Amino acid sequence: MSFWSRHQILEKNSIVLIAGILAVVAIGGLVEITPLFYLKSTIEVVDGVRPYTPLELAGRNIYIREGCYLCHSQMIRALRDEVERYGHYSLAAESMYDHPFQWGSKRTGPDLARVGAKYSDEWHVRHLTNPRAVVPQSVMPGYSFLAEAQVDPATIADHLRTNRAIGVPYSDDQIANAAADLRAQADPDDAGADAFAKRYPKAVVRNFDSKPGAPTEMDALIAYLQMLGTLVDFKLYDEKANLR
Ligand code: HEC
Repeated sequence: MSFWSRHQILEKNSIVLIAGILAVVAIGGLVEITPLFYLKSTIEVVDGVRPYTPLELAGRNIYIREGCYLCHSQMIRALRDEVERYGHYSLAAESMYDHPFQWGSKRTGPDLARVGAKYSDEWHVRHLTNPRAVVPQSVMPGYSFLAEAQVDPATIADHLRTNRAIGVPYSDDQIANAAADLRAQADPDDAGADAFAKRYPKAVVRNFDSKPGAPTEMDALIAYLQMLGTLVDFKLYDEKANLR
């Protein structure tokens, strides 16, 4: 029997064919998966990356709820034109606490991975209220209702807890104070602002929507946008990379 006629055994007997397919697919899978068990981590640890503050996390939830990811990516590729336009290419560590990640797949608007600190809070308020007020040719929808909607502090601790269940290292202290921290970050005069700053070093405390009172969804979304891409000090990161 020649080799090719022996192959008929596989082609004429579906059970044997399935067993053969499984064996071949398993080899491919093992080649890809086995090395991962021998790596200490698939994500390089990078200084500065921290879990989101309660207000930022609330803002991130609004970003997802409103579908901002349908028009905006958050992933700068290591290509020259991207790096020149948006800044340092994204590191895996920068989205390690994102569940789910917001890399996106479409750019109707620009990438937002490093939009933090690019504009003032006032610019964001005007832009989110009516994008055409600051960029006349913009096709982005307005989200003026965010300024009226308050963030519900009652559910934020559960959001932190859920994130912890899937690996984000929130402490008991951070979860217990989630609702207080949510308020404190949007109000520098809040009695809890110092305690907040201790729990989330280097987080920005500001009245993002410049309106008095409890944090609005506008506060939360702008707090989130203003921290995007600002956690890693790339001068230090690149110096270290040169030493490696
Ligand atoms: C229909 C597509 C679309 C959606 C949905 C959308 N955007 Fe945009 N966005 C754009 C476009 C186009 C621009 C560029 C023009 C402009 O600045 O308005 C833009 C610009 C921006 C910018 C300025 C970026 C820069 O670097 O100049 C920010 C910030 C932004 N969008 C945030 C958001 C947020 C937050 C949401 C969700 C609440 C959102 N966008 C939803 C299309 C969209």
